[in-house]
Amino acid sequence: MKILISAGPTREAIDPVRFITNHSSGKMGYALALAAVKRGWQVVLVSGPVDLPRPEGLAEFVQVVSAAEMADAVKSRFPAMDGAILCAAVADYRPVTVSNKKIKKSDDDLILHLERTEDILKTLGTMKNAQQILIGFAAETDDLEANALAKLKKKNLDWIAANKVGVPGRGFQADTNAITLYNATGEKIELPLTDKESLAEEMLNRIFPE
Ligand code: CTP
Repeated sequence: MKILISAGPTREAIDPVRFITNHSSGKMGYALALAAVKRGWQVVLVSGPVDLPRPEGLAEFVQVVSAAEMADAVKSRFPAMDGAILCAAVADYRPVTVSNKKIKKSDDDLILHLERTEDILKTLGTMKNAQQILIGFAAETDDLEANALAKLKKKNLDWIAANKVGVPGRGFQADTNAITLYNATGEKIELPLTDKESLAEEMLNRIFPE
């Protein structure tokens, strides 16, 4: 089994010293990579900037910074994979122009014009063949189930792992998480609050029963 996993945040440059990012720690994606390595799989980890040790036993470790770099790294490798789990918190918007000089302050307000980045998961949904399995994440503050099911369909996924954010002990920076898995055939599996390592193993056990 060859699997690609994306993890961590992306950074979208504003100027040489500033960028837009989010609170993703990369912990869930790295835990999934480790769980997949433990199963003896060939694991390609594409990671945004995180403060975590590189998991041992990877087939390939690709470090990227921006959403565009992550898109290139993921899309070029996906055709050779049996599946992908996209766990990265990719920035949905980036500055339209990146100043090559540090932007100096003035007394006026500053307006940043942002444009959409590519939805990598959605692109893979259009690329995947009948044998490939595609898994996404949905981090939501509200209407978890409805939003997750809408993403599952819109992005042509086989599974989606939905988790609440903005709740202590879950998502982003936390060491623990709870997720609900939904698949394209209507199954729903609750994985209760636990550490991200156990959750990652349980997630693989349920999606890929041995
Ligand atoms: N994702 C991606 N590329 C992006 C944005 C998201 O691959 N540019 C992937 C994430 O890795 C995750 C899933 O898509 O698996 C998250 O879905 P998304 O619709 O992007 O969630 P949000 O960004 O939270 O979208 P919304 O604002 O619609 O809630």
